[in-house]
Amino acid sequence: MLKPIIRPQLKKLLHKSTLFCMPGHKGSLNALDITEITGADDLRRPKGILHDAQRQLAKVFNVPFAQFLVGGSSLGIHTMVKYYCDIGDTLIINDGAHVAVHNIAKILNLKTITLPINKIDNFGIAAPIMPDDVERTIKQHPDAKAVLITSPTYYGIFSDVKGIAKVCHANNIPLIVDQAHGAHFSFSHSLPPNAIEAGADACNISVHKTLPSLTQTAMLLSRVDMSEQLNLFCTTSPSYLFMMAIEEACIKMHKKGEKMIDALITNCNNFKNAIKFNTLSNNYTDPTRLVISLPGNRANEIANSLAQKRIYIEMCDGKNIVLIPSVNNTKDDFTRLAKELNQF
Ligand SMILES: Cc1ncc(COP(=O)(O)O)c(C=O)c1O
Repeated sequence: MLKPIIRPQLKKLLHKSTLFCMPGHKGSLNALDITEITGADDLRRPKGILHDAQRQLAKVFNVPFAQFLVGGSSLGIHTMVKYYCDIGDTLIINDGAHVAVHNIAKILNLKTITLPINKIDNFGIAAPIMPDDVERTIKQHPDAKAVLITSPTYYGIFSDVKGIAKVCHANNIPLIVDQAHGAHFSFSHSLPPNAIEAGADACNISVHKTLPSLTQTAMLLSRVDMSEQLNLFCTTSPSYLFMMAIEEACIKMHKKGEKMIDALITNCNNFKNAIKFNTLSNNYTDPTRLVISLPGNRANEIANSLAQKRIYIEMCDGKNIVLIPSVNNTKDDFTRLAKELNQF
């Protein structure tokens, strides 16, 4: 039976305590926002509650190593690339890789090779990455130290990670997956498996993007221990609020996620049927991601009108709007949005 480890221990340690340590607010902003006091472990060299919490989460995700990322998926991307690449190496990436990939490539002076891009016609967005394209690119660049793909993308498009991992491993190249937008995948049989279960060597998941957790919270899932590289980039003052939020969101989803995600998918499907606009829907798109194609260059205008009604979308690319619903969105949220959209 999985239970949160961090919160109960902090409550015990902080009961009737006097703080002559960080943070400066001394508990006045949040009683459990504390630094690494005796008994609260040390994220750089975890041996106590943080070690136990990470071990428990590794079981939740069915992976050898799970590490807290208190600097978002960006921190995980920097860590994974540094693990596999050194200064001046070659890295194969997908077109449209996140800025964190380009930043670490700059820091390490990497030579990046971009995989071929295919588009989904009506939406003008990137289609899944094909294993054949990855294989061809590896053959053309046998010196590459790793392949890094984004799956799923911002638009919810996921690639055949299993097929791509097979191709990479047949060529002795590790596969890194930026799975920032797929933290929820591990908790439903209606969604693809997490990238490690599909065969990748390491992936990052932004817990904050699709699970009920605090902004900036993420996890690094991997087959090998990457803590040495993680410590090169991570703050030395990790937030316990972040780590508690990650732990509690993942345990909640482990216990109730299947049902909650089923309900979310039903809400998304009903929403798609209720609106008059075209939505992205196929067997390689996350059914919980909503991409709505808006005709006649009206996407920006519609996004702005929704904001004026205090309905905030995730992103507008000028042609489509992208919404990131989660298990915390109510049926009423979807009804309200559908009603407003249908007025345009
Ligand atoms: C595809 C992708 N990867 C990585 C990131 C970085 O995630 P985080 O904001 O958790 O650092 C983002 C953020 O939007 C993203 O869209």
